[in-house]
Amino acid sequence: MRVGEDEDGAFTQQNVKSPFSSLEKGLFYAPEMTLRRKGMNLMSKGSCSSLATRSVQIGVGRDEQTGGISFPIYPSATYRHPGVGESTGYDYTRSGNPTRDVLEDALAELEGGARGLAFSSGMAALTTLFLHFSSGDQLLVSEDLYGGTYRVLDQVFAKFGLQASYVDTTSVAAVDAAITGQTRALLIETPGNPLLGVADIRALGELCRCHDILFVVDNTFLTPILQRPLELGADVVVHSATKYLGGHSDLCAGALVAKDAELGERLYFLQNSTGAILPPQDCWLLIRSLKTLPLRMERHSASALQVASWLQEQPQVEKVYYPGLPEHPGHLLTKRQNAGFGGMLSFRLNDPQLAEQLLERLQLISFAESLGGVESLITLPAVQTHADIPAAERERLGICNRLLRLSVGLEDPADLIADLQQALNHFSGRVVHG
Ligand SMILES: Cc1ncc(COP(=O)(O)O)c(C=O)c1O
Repeated sequence: MRVGEDEDGAFTQQNVKSPFSSLEKGLFYAPEMTLRRKGMNLMSKGSCSSLATRSVQIGVGRDEQTGGISFPIYPSATYRHPGVGESTGYDYTRSGNPTRDVLEDALAELEGGARGLAFSSGMAALTTLFLHFSSGDQLLVSEDLYGGTYRVLDQVFAKFGLQASYVDTTSVAAVDAAITGQTRALLIETPGNPLLGVADIRALGELCRCHDILFVVDNTFLTPILQRPLELGADVVVHSATKYLGGHSDLCAGALVAKDAELGERLYFLQNSTGAILPPQDCWLLIRSLKTLPLRMERHSASALQVASWLQEQPQVEKVYYPGLPEHPGHLLTKRQNAGFGGMLSFRLNDPQLAEQLLERLQLISFAESLGGVESLITLPAVQTHADIPAAERERLGICNRLLRLSVGLEDPADLIADLQQALNHFSGRVVHG
C-alpha cells in the first residue's frame, strides 16, 4: 500500500495533497500528480512540481531575446538560412515553429510524455495516429466513444484495410477476450462519451504490455490535471484541445503526446508528412488557455458534482451518469486513478418528449455541440455527436433520444441549477417561484 491509499487502494481526500491552496469538494489529488522534469524545457526552471505552477509558467523564460512573459506568435511561414547546409533550427513552419514548440513542450510536460504534437483539430490528431498502422491491422476501440472517431475509422480507414472492433473497455476481461493476432492497438476514452463509463487504465496498460499492443488514451474529458494516462501505462495520449485544453469555445485544436521519444519522432514524421499542424496564432491562444487549466478543472469538477447531485433528485430524471456520484459503477475506480471527476455528466429523462422541450426552454445553458468551455453546453448525443453510430448500436448502448449530455461550465452552479429547474418545471406544468 502506498502513502495516501486505503486498503482498497482508493485515495482518500484527507490523505492526498492538492496542488491548490483550497481543496473543493469533488476534487482530490494523488501522489502520481507530480510532473516529470524535462531538463531541456525552460518551463522546468526552479524546483516547483505543482501542475498549477507549471501551467501558469508555460512559456515564461522562453523568449530569451526580449524576456517577454507572453511568448510571441511567430507567423513566419519560412526562415532565412544563415548559409548553405545551415539552419537556425527552423526551416519551414509545417516542420517547426517557435510558438508551436513552446506549446508542444508544454503539452508533453503536462502529460508527462517525451514528445507533444499540436494539430489543427482532435480529428487531425487521431487521423495522424491511425496513419501509424497498416492495412490488415486491427484496433480495439471503446464502444462508448466520440462519434467522429467511429466515423473516421468506419468510413475512412476501413477503406484502407485498417479494421476497428468496438469493445466495452470498462471490462478488462472483455478487452482481453477481443485481442487477436491482428490487434495492434487499444484506443480508449475514459470516462466514456456520452455514458461516462470508467476504464481501469493501469490494468489495461498491463494487458497491452503483455500482448505488445500500443495503448492509446483519449484524455479529452479529464485532461492531465485530473487523469495521467502515461503514468498509468498508456503509450500515447490524444486530445481534442478544442475542449478543456482550449477551454473557451474559441479554437479548434488537437494534440498527441507520446510517452517515449522514438514513437514521438514517428508521429512527428507522420504529422510533418501529412501537414495537420496547428497554426501559430492558435498555438498562442492554446498556450494562454493552458495557464488556467488547473483552476478551470477544479471548478468544473466541483460544479458538476453539485449539478449531478441535484439532477438525481428530480422526478423527471430517470438516471444520472456522473462518476462523482457514489452509485456510479466507476466511482471507486475514478477515486483510485484520477484526481477529480471532471465537468461532464449525462442524464436520461423519463419522457421522450421532455428532452426536446428542455433544450428549447433552457435560457442560460446553450444547446450546442462540443464541451469543455467556460460556458455550459448541453447536447442530445443521439442526433448530434453520436449520429454516425448506427441506430441499433446506439439503442444497445443506451444513447437514446431521452439522453442529454451536459458540459458544466464555470457559471455559478446555483444559476445552472435554477435554469434546469425552470425548464423542467415548465414541462411538468408547475409554477416556478424564485
Ligand atoms: C473525446 C473526443 N475526442 C476527439 C474529438 C475530436 O476533436 P475535434 O472536434 O477537435 O476534431 C472529440 C470531439 O468532440 C471528442 O469529444
